[in-house]
Amino acid sequence: MTIKAVVYGVGAMNSIATRLLLDKGVEIVGAISRSESKVGNDLGEVTGIGRSLDVVISNDPHEVFERTRPDVAVIAVNSYMTDAVEQLRACAEHGVNAVTLSEEALYPWQTSPEITRELDEIAKRTGATLTGTGHQDTYWVNIVALMMGTAHRIDSVTGHASWNVDDYGPEVAGDQQVGKTVEEFDEWLASAERPPTFGRNVLDALVADTGLTVKSVTTNTRPDIAETSMFSQALQREILPGQVIGFTDIDEIVTTEGPVFNFEMSGRVYGAGDGDINEWEIKGEPDLVLSNGTVPTQVTTCTQLVNRVPDVIAAPAGFVTVEKLPRLRYRTFPLHTYLGR
Ligand SMILES: NC(=O)c1ccc[n+]([C@@H]2O[C@H](COP(=O)([O-])OP(=O)(O)OC[C@H]3O[C@@H](n4cnc5c(N)ncnc54)[C@H](OP(=O)(O)O)[C@@H]3O)[C@@H](O)[C@H]2O)c1
Repeated sequence: MTIKAVVYGVGAMNSIATRLLLDKGVEIVGAISRSESKVGNDLGEVTGIGRSLDVVISNDPHEVFERTRPDVAVIAVNSYMTDAVEQLRACAEHGVNAVTLSEEALYPWQTSPEITRELDEIAKRTGATLTGTGHQDTYWVNIVALMMGTAHRIDSVTGHASWNVDDYGPEVAGDQQVGKTVEEFDEWLASAERPPTFGRNVLDALVADTGLTVKSVTTNTRPDIAETSMFSQALQREILPGQVIGFTDIDEIVTTEGPVFNFEMSGRVYGAGDGDINEWEIKGEPDLVLSNGTVPTQVTTCTQLVNRVPDVIAAPAGFVTVEKLPRLRYRTFPLHTYLGR
């Protein structure tokens, strides 16, 4: 029996994921978006598949879930739990498993404990699993955790990563403050509304995986500034010299047991010659280094979103974070075959 999926959010990421899901034998039974330009249209046309999929995009998740009773919702809508709770709650209440790209959902237990507990309780009651994945899943958490498993003693774990804001849609560019003045950026940074950094959730997941305890957490953020005029594809407008093109977070977690975790992550509009990096260094016995060269983050985000589908359906009910899922595997065959269907 094939896996029935609802595509939740029809933007840059889920347009790619729609094609990957179809390639892997998933039956797309519904789609949900927000804007007038998408709602009422066919998913195949809006995502550029080039043919009708007989799936009309709706703006009513409850109606879609009631009517289609999917195995899973594949969510690419927003980044932070205060926003993502709307989509995740709708899934959990309907007993629909959900795999989301919301960055904070990667490990939200420390940064949004109340929302996560609430979702966990609903999901356990209805039998749904909720999981945050994306590029971080393997490249920033599980590949690093595997390498940590080859050490005898760890003093520090230090990561450097960058990604191009223009590989994603306007939601991401807005979150990265692209086009703001430095004064507006500083105001946002100082405001109580500044959401958790993506790096914080990555380090929380790594620390959780090792069973270490957090002693202190620090975050420093600096804006990345356009030196010359740059065009942002995501916003479809020119960013002037002196304006913000994104920012870099440097997160640090010191653990009670000693190991220190650092992650410097930059998400900005790229200029000529920029490319995505993913580099990690473990100091201890022995010293270890990982470098992935130039990483195609846009694609690896969507492949992991899709390849995780069988793991999320098979996982126990509740809010289950990726360090608790099985190692991610290449999916040669249609996804339902990994569930023994
Ligand atoms: N974890 C990762 O590795 C990773 C990587 C890439 C992106 N992301 C995150 O994934 C999210 C989506 O990225 P993207 O590049 O696909 O962004 P995008 O192109 O802006 O797409 C977002 C989509 O969500 C829809 N949407 C917004 N609010 C909604 C709501 N309340 N109900 C239903 N649909 C809603 C939008 O609908 P309309 O267009 O109809 O308004 C749009 O189709 C971003 O927050 C991004 O940070 C995570």
